[in-house]
Amino acid sequence: MRFHIMTLFPEIFHSYMNESIMKRAVEKNIIEVCVYNIRDFSNNKHKKVDDYPFGGGAGMVMTPQPIYDTYKHIVDKYNINNPRVIYLTPKGKVHNQTIATDMSKEDDVILLCGHYEGVDQRIIDLIVTDEISIGDYVLTGGELPALILIDSISRLIPGVLSQNESFEEESFKDNLLEYPHYTRPREFMELEVPDVLLSGNHKNIDKWRHDESVRITKERRPDLYKKACK
Ligand code: ADE
Repeated sequence: MRFHIMTLFPEIFHSYMNESIMKRAVEKNIIEVCVYNIRDFSNNKHKKVDDYPFGGGAGMVMTPQPIYDTYKHIVDKYNINNPRVIYLTPKGKVHNQTIATDMSKEDDVILLCGHYEGVDQRIIDLIVTDEISIGDYVLTGGELPALILIDSISRLIPGVLSQNESFEEESFKDNLLEYPHYTRPREFMELEVPDVLLSGNHKNIDKWRHDESVRITKERRPDLYKKACK
């Protein structure tokens, strides 16, 4: 799977993609991350990429030409038909595990990172297929949200996680949050590991874990728990 990132701050991506599981996924050629600096595509002699909003108001708006030309460059170079183009914005649909799973099936995903007051609406009308938010708060730009999307999608692609990093049992599976984990030592600061986990009885262990998942989900996320009961 290829992620194409349109941004004014390409450097942000290099560090994250060069560590840990993301780095390994790139090295194994399971994912490819192509970063494009929107400024490089500006026709303006000063490489300007933003302008004042028509109608007045605070802040600047990213102009359509450099973004559109970046997009054209990507789809022409890689011969992509009907690409999924995701604009990261607090106005979008709130990201979740179902969206990540759906997107993990694409060959190419183009991510558009906004800055300032956002992008000219005509870019959204012309090229954007999905507007995605990572939560009900406002960040300074779409770069961290884009990384969050890439991470959440990549780890669902076969081969990215090893057997023991598997996502088969984790939060949001069947709309339940994950049960608590314990490792050595058996006692730490006078707190002991629950007996059942040391019992070797896997039926009891599975039941305890399921019950804990239900308890935690009910307590913390009644909205999720309602869905889990359906
Ligand atoms: N850009 C700024 N804030 C954002 C958010 N919460 N989600 C996605 N993109 C954003």
